[in-house]
Amino acid sequence: MEDKLLELEHVSKTFSGGKGKTVEAVKDVSFTVYKNESLGIVGESGCGKSTIARMITGLTAVSSGKILLEGNVISGLNRREQREVYRNIQMVFQDPYSAISPRMPVGTFLGEGLVHFGIMNRKEAEAEAGRLLEMVDLEPQLADRLPHQLSGGQLQRVVIARAISIHPRLVILDEATSALDVSVQKQILELLVRLQKEFHLTYLFIGHDLAVVRSITKQICVMKDGRIIEKVASASLLEKAGENYTKQLLSSVFSVRE
Ligand SMILES: Nc1ncnc2c1ncn2[C@@H]1O[C@H](COP(=O)(O)OP(=O)(O)OP(=O)(O)O)[C@@H](O)[C@H]1O
Ligand SMILES: [Mg+2]
Repeated sequence: MEDKLLELEHVSKTFSGGKGKTVEAVKDVSFTVYKNESLGIVGESGCGKSTIARMITGLTAVSSGKILLEGNVISGLNRREQREVYRNIQMVFQDPYSAISPRMPVGTFLGEGLVHFGIMNRKEAEAEAGRLLEMVDLEPQLADRLPHQLSGGQLQRVVIARAISIHPRLVILDEATSALDVSVQKQILELLVRLQKEFHLTYLFIGHDLAVVRSITKQICVMKDGRIIEKVASASLLEKAGENYTKQLLSSVFSVRE
């Protein structure tokens, strides 16, 4: 049997929306991510995708249900317990510029995780930065630059390198390529596929664009209004999409040229 890395069991999240109102952002969501695989989550804006990511990384508490990493419950841990667990889960967001302090040289940013988790001292981490840049097909000299001196695509490569520098078990990519133009998006997706093979990574790939999510995942959870309404194999998506909503998402991808 394949090894389970991450499991969500009946996870829900209700936010208080002020004035006694509540928002049920995530409703009874269950899914499993297997080791060395990519699972996709797709759905329209506001359906709860990022809330799921934030609950997995402990940034948002679950309202009910359980999250397990390698069979151990990781939802509801205290701060001290969280530190070791969340070293194993790294996240990449849509906007790379918001991930780095504007005054921090790229090389320092790249070495930060290694120093923070005591894997290397500062000097060693600085030397490692060049290697990390090469790993994502960038020139090692970029280490001395500031974030605004890199393009969005280059900086997203840096953020990806930083995320995998500390050898996490799971990488969550939340709209990680959505802000990039189509050709750069394709290059980053290719990079992610290569890195996954090289380092045996497991991805949870979140996006609103079904064509993009499909290109990098094996299985996709389709979400609507806080729920998973369908789980489909990416390869058979065109023939097998059962829910009308999934078909709509697909047709919105293919209707562009009509
Ligand atoms: N901290 C919060 N307090 C109150 N409501 C919230 C909070 N965070 C998210 N929500 C609400 O939860 C719902 C789901 O939001 P979420 O960010 O998870 O959606 P999403 O699927 O990631 O959307 P997008 O594709 O636009 O990124 C939305 O209705 C949102 O307004
Ligand atoms: Mg989101």
